[in-house]
This record gives sequence, structure tokens and C-alpha cells, in this order.
Amino acid sequence: MEVLIFPDAQSLACKSADLVESQIKTFPDSVIGLATGSTPLGLYEELIRRHNENDLSFTGVKTFNLDEYVGIPANHPQSYRTFMDDNFFCKINIDSSNTQVPNGMAENPLDVGPAYEKMIEKAGGIDLQVLGVGTDGHIGFNEPTSSLGSMTRVKTLTKQTIEDNSRFFKPDEFQPKLAITMGIKTILDARRILLLALGENKAEAVKDMIEGPLSSMCPASALQLHQRTTILLDEPAASKLSLKGYYKFVGEMQDDLVRKHRPSDWISR
Ligand code: F6R
Repeated sequence: MEVLIFPDAQSLACKSADLVESQIKTFPDSVIGLATGSTPLGLYEELIRRHNENDLSFTGVKTFNLDEYVGIPANHPQSYRTFMDDNFFCKINIDSSNTQVPNGMAENPLDVGPAYEKMIEKAGGIDLQVLGVGTDGHIGFNEPTSSLGSMTRVKTLTKQTIEDNSRFFKPDEFQPKLAITMGIKTILDARRILLLALGENKAEAVKDMIEGPLSSMCPASALQLHQRTTILLDEPAASKLSLKGYYKFVGEMQDDLVRKHRPSDWISR
């Protein structure tokens, strides 16, 4: 795991956009896995800016979102499809047929996962997966005790996740308790992973993910098994790491080495 610590959300967003941009520029037909939530919004804003000002193009890119609620239609204001359209897809030049979000309104939600896996496989697999992390250590909607070998499927959300996300629903509105999510194995199959975390409320989960034991109690700790994962943190999210000074030292030591010998080291394929 590569751990990068940034002074603020803006510099983190710029660095993550640099990484996504070089992936797309090197392989214009890249397959990118995407997350919703508040964390990647800065990344999406920065990519939109680069699209508008620097002609960064998404015409060949295919995307697969991590997850979607079960039981609300795609055009619901709180669906993850609406979130992605409003915050990203409608503001760049991507063909909507190249953007996939699991169908939360399928007649049989249990069929959605295997079909989604086939679509990912047919697209050639995910080159770069963008992730956030939940306060309970979830990635996608893989809640604690999710199988580390899991594939896309229906999951029941924990009380904590339902509470964390209740801010997006009106008090009297139906709030889904089930979601369809890529599994942990689906995520680990991505060639390159970028996980972003902002804020002190993520500090405990971040510590467990990076320094805790590999355990389904912190699903994000499964990323310890992945060869090419970069974790981008702001200072508050990094505040509980015991080896914080070491990660900064590694960054300083390796920056020059990588820049000199493997300038595009982080790009997948
Ligand atoms: C969203 C997703 C979730 C979020 C996580 C953090 O598609 O898969 O795992 O990344 O819940 O959410 P925020 O960024 O809102 O704190």
C-alpha cells in the first residue's frame, strides 16, 4: 500500500485527478470503477474542470459504479445513478451507454450481481477503481463481516451506514436498507486502486484499514492484499496512524526514484 497524506481536500483532489487523468491519457479506452458519496466529489469537480479547460476527453472511457440502492428507481433524487449523472457524467463527454450502475429496480435483484460481473469481464476488467471508505471500514457496500472473496451481490446495510446516509433522505422518506454492491474480490481484481478518505470521522477506519489486522471486521483492510493500491488521505483522516511519519518519509524517498526510473509506474495494464 502506498499512503499519501495531503494538507487539505483540494490538494488531495488534484493529485487523485492527476492519477485518473494520466490513466485516461495513456489508455483512452480505460475502464474506471467509480464511487459515490461526498469524498470523490472534489475529484469529479477537478476532472470536469480539466475536461472544460484542458480538453480532457472521456469518449473512449467505460465506467462501472461500485453500488446502488435496492428499491429506488434510477431517476430517484437519491439513487446513485442520479448522483453520478448530476455530479459527473452529465458534465463530461462520456456516452451514457458507457456508464454502468447496478440496477436497483431489477425484478430479481439477486440476478444483478452475476450479470454485472459478466459486463465487467466483457469490458476487459477494471483498470482503475476509485474508492471511498465508510466509518465502519466498508468499501462499496461491503459491510463488516463481508466475505473477502465476495463478488457483486445484494447486501444488507448496517445501522451505522443507514444512519450515516440518512442525511440524504427526508425524515419521512423511504430509505433503502439493501444495496447491490461489487464484492471485495471484484474490487481486488481491479488492476489499480485509489482510495480517498477525508475528515477525522474516517480516522479510525483508516487506521484499521492500513495498520489493523486483515479482517472482515474492517473490509477495507482487504486492500492490504492488493499489489497496487494508493491511499490518499487528508491530515485529519490520517490522524490516528501510528506510522504517519514513516509514510511521509517513504513518499519523500520514493518520489525522486519513481520520477526518474518509472514516471508512469502507477498506470495500470
Ligand atoms: C459509495 C460507496 C461507499 C462510500 C463510503 C464513504 O459508492 O461505495 O463505500 O465510498 O460510504 O462515503 P462518503 O464519501 O460519503 O463518506
